[in-house]
Amino acid sequence: MMNAKMVKALNKQINEEYYSSYIYLAMAAYLDDQDLDGMGHWMRMQAQEEHLHAMKIFDYMLERGARIELYSVAAPPREWDSPLDAFQGALEHEQYMTANINTLVDLAISERDHATNNIMQWYVSEQVEEEANVENIVKKLKMMGDTGHGLFMMDRELANRPAPSIVAEADGA
Ligand code: FEO
Repeated sequence: MMNAKMVKALNKQINEEYYSSYIYLAMAAYLDDQDLDGMGHWMRMQAQEEHLHAMKIFDYMLERGARIELYSVAAPPREWDSPLDAFQGALEHEQYMTANINTLVDLAISERDHATNNIMQWYVSEQVEEEANVENIVKKLKMMGDTGHGLFMMDRELANRPAPSIVAEADGA
Protein backbone atom coordinates (compact mmCIF):
# COMPACT_ATOMS: atom_id res chain seq x y z
CA MET A 1 0.00 0.00 0.00
CA MET A 2 1.24 3.44 -0.91
CA ASN A 3 1.89 5.84 1.96
CA ALA A 4 -0.12 9.06 2.36
CA LYS A 5 2.77 11.40 1.49
CA MET A 6 3.39 9.60 -1.78
CA VAL A 7 -0.32 9.52 -2.65
CA LYS A 8 -0.60 13.27 -2.09
CA ALA A 9 2.51 14.00 -4.17
CA LEU A 10 1.30 11.83 -7.07
CA ASN A 11 -2.16 13.40 -6.99
CA LYS A 12 -0.42 16.78 -7.23
CA GLN A 13 1.63 15.52 -10.18
CA ILE A 14 -1.55 14.45 -12.01
CA ASN A 15 -2.68 18.05 -11.61
CA GLU A 16 0.68 19.37 -12.87
CA GLU A 17 0.42 17.17 -15.96
CA TYR A 18 -3.09 18.44 -16.64
CA TYR A 19 -1.90 22.01 -16.21
CA SER A 20 0.84 21.18 -18.74
CA SER A 21 -1.81 19.95 -21.15
CA TYR A 22 -3.76 23.16 -20.57
CA ILE A 23 -0.82 25.52 -21.08
CA TYR A 24 0.10 23.78 -24.35
CA LEU A 25 -3.50 24.05 -25.47
CA ALA A 26 -3.33 27.79 -24.70
CA MET A 27 -0.12 28.01 -26.75
CA ALA A 28 -1.84 26.10 -29.58
CA ALA A 29 -4.66 28.65 -29.56
CA TYR A 30 -2.19 31.57 -29.55
CA LEU A 31 -0.15 30.12 -32.44
CA ASP A 32 -3.23 29.26 -34.44
CA ASP A 33 -4.39 32.83 -33.94
CA GLN A 34 -1.06 33.96 -35.48
CA ASP A 35 -1.89 31.82 -38.55
CA LEU A 36 0.84 29.37 -37.57
CA ASP A 37 -1.30 26.27 -37.80
CA GLY A 38 1.68 23.87 -37.97
CA MET A 39 3.08 25.18 -34.69
CA GLY A 40 -0.42 25.12 -33.25
CA HIS A 41 -0.67 21.47 -34.31
CA TRP A 42 2.63 20.68 -32.57
CA MET A 43 1.29 22.20 -29.35
CA ARG A 44 -1.97 20.27 -29.66
CA MET A 45 0.02 17.03 -29.90
CA GLN A 46 2.03 18.12 -26.87
CA ALA A 47 -1.20 18.78 -24.97
CA GLN A 48 -2.36 15.24 -25.81
CA GLU A 49 0.94 13.83 -24.65
CA GLU A 50 0.57 15.59 -21.29
CA HIS A 51 -2.88 14.06 -20.90
CA LEU A 52 -1.22 10.66 -21.36
CA HIS A 53 1.41 11.55 -18.75
CA ALA A 54 -1.38 12.34 -16.27
CA MET A 55 -3.24 9.12 -17.10
CA LYS A 56 -0.17 6.96 -16.66
CA ILE A 57 0.08 8.13 -13.02
CA PHE A 58 -3.72 7.85 -12.65
CA ASP A 59 -3.68 4.21 -13.79
CA TYR A 60 -0.63 3.37 -11.70
CA MET A 61 -2.23 4.78 -8.56
CA LEU A 62 -5.42 2.80 -9.13
CA GLU A 63 -3.35 -0.32 -9.62
CA ARG A 64 -1.69 0.31 -6.26
CA GLY A 65 -5.06 0.88 -4.59
CA ALA A 66 -4.30 4.56 -3.93
CA ARG A 67 -7.12 7.09 -3.72
CA ILE A 68 -7.16 9.54 -6.61
CA GLU A 69 -7.94 13.16 -5.85
CA LEU A 70 -8.42 15.53 -8.76
CA TYR A 71 -7.66 19.17 -8.03
CA SER A 72 -8.72 22.28 -9.94
CA VAL A 73 -6.57 23.09 -12.94
CA ALA A 74 -5.34 26.70 -12.97
CA ALA A 75 -5.99 28.92 -15.99
CA PRO A 76 -2.87 29.21 -18.18
CA PRO A 77 -1.69 32.48 -19.77
CA ARG A 78 -3.29 33.32 -23.12
CA GLU A 79 -0.78 35.66 -24.75
CA TRP A 80 2.90 35.47 -25.63
CA ASP A 81 5.13 38.12 -27.21
CA SER A 82 6.05 35.95 -30.20
CA PRO A 83 6.16 32.29 -31.29
CA LEU A 84 9.72 32.14 -29.95
CA ASP A 85 8.49 33.49 -26.62
CA ALA A 86 5.83 30.72 -26.53
CA PHE A 87 8.37 27.97 -27.23
CA GLN A 88 10.78 29.45 -24.71
CA GLY A 89 7.91 29.37 -22.22
CA ALA A 90 7.37 25.72 -23.12
CA LEU A 91 11.04 24.97 -22.46
CA GLU A 92 10.94 26.68 -19.06
CA HIS A 93 7.79 24.76 -18.26
CA GLU A 94 9.46 21.45 -19.12
CA GLN A 95 12.42 22.35 -16.90
CA TYR A 96 9.94 22.99 -14.10
CA MET A 97 8.31 19.59 -14.78
CA THR A 98 11.70 17.88 -14.66
CA ALA A 99 12.28 19.41 -11.23
CA ASN A 100 8.89 18.05 -10.10
CA ILE A 101 9.76 14.56 -11.31
CA ASN A 102 13.13 14.68 -9.57
CA THR A 103 11.39 15.64 -6.32
CA LEU A 104 9.04 12.68 -6.74
CA VAL A 105 12.00 10.35 -7.26
CA ASP A 106 13.64 11.73 -4.10
CA LEU A 107 10.43 11.14 -2.15
CA ALA A 108 9.98 7.60 -3.52
CA ILE A 109 13.56 6.78 -2.48
CA SER A 110 13.24 8.31 1.00
CA GLU A 111 9.91 6.49 1.54
CA ARG A 112 11.46 3.26 0.18
CA ASP A 113 8.65 3.05 -2.38
CA HIS A 114 10.52 1.10 -5.05
CA ALA A 115 7.51 0.63 -7.33
CA THR A 116 6.91 4.39 -7.52
CA ASN A 117 10.60 5.02 -8.00
CA ASN A 118 10.50 2.54 -10.87
CA ILE A 119 7.61 4.24 -12.67
CA MET A 120 9.13 7.65 -12.02
CA GLN A 121 12.25 6.53 -13.87
CA TRP A 122 10.09 6.39 -17.02
CA TYR A 123 9.28 10.07 -16.42
CA VAL A 124 12.96 10.88 -15.83
CA SER A 125 13.78 9.58 -19.33
CA GLU A 126 10.69 11.18 -20.82
CA GLN A 127 11.69 14.58 -19.41
CA VAL A 128 15.11 14.35 -21.09
CA GLU A 129 13.27 13.86 -24.39
CA GLU A 130 10.69 16.56 -23.67
CA GLU A 131 13.32 19.18 -22.86
CA ALA A 132 15.47 18.20 -25.86
CA ASN A 133 12.53 18.43 -28.29
CA VAL A 134 11.51 21.93 -27.24
CA GLU A 135 15.09 23.14 -26.92
CA ASN A 136 15.70 22.04 -30.49
CA ILE A 137 12.75 24.13 -31.71
CA VAL A 138 13.88 27.16 -29.68
CA LYS A 139 17.38 26.90 -31.18
CA LYS A 140 16.05 26.61 -34.71
CA LEU A 141 13.69 29.54 -34.24
CA LYS A 142 16.59 31.63 -33.00
CA MET A 143 18.74 30.52 -35.92
CA MET A 144 16.12 31.01 -38.62
CA GLY A 145 14.69 34.16 -37.15
CA ASP A 146 11.37 34.59 -35.43
CA THR A 147 9.83 36.33 -38.44
CA GLY A 148 8.86 35.84 -42.10
CA HIS A 149 10.53 33.01 -43.97
CA GLY A 150 12.05 31.35 -40.88
CA LEU A 151 8.66 31.13 -39.19
CA PHE A 152 7.06 29.78 -42.35
CA MET A 153 9.68 27.01 -42.61
CA MET A 154 9.34 26.04 -38.95
CA ASP A 155 5.58 26.08 -39.21
CA ARG A 156 5.73 23.57 -42.06
CA GLU A 157 8.16 21.34 -40.19
CA LEU A 158 6.15 21.28 -36.97
CA ALA A 159 2.93 20.45 -38.83
CA ASN A 160 4.33 16.93 -39.27
CA ARG A 161 4.36 15.94 -35.63
CA PRO A 162 2.46 12.65 -35.30
CA ALA A 163 -0.14 12.03 -32.61
CA PRO A 164 1.31 10.48 -29.46
CA SER A 165 0.88 6.74 -29.36
CA ILE A 166 -1.89 6.15 -26.87
CA VAL A 167 -1.44 2.37 -26.69
CA ALA A 168 2.32 2.50 -26.21
CA GLU A 169 2.13 5.32 -23.66
CA ALA A 170 -0.73 3.76 -21.72
CA ASP A 171 1.10 0.44 -21.57
CA GLY A 172 4.19 2.16 -20.26
CA ALA A 173 6.24 1.33 -23.36
FE1 FEO B 1 4.55 15.73 -18.72
FE2 FEO B 1 5.99 17.63 -20.62
O1 FEO B 1 5.86 16.91 -18.91
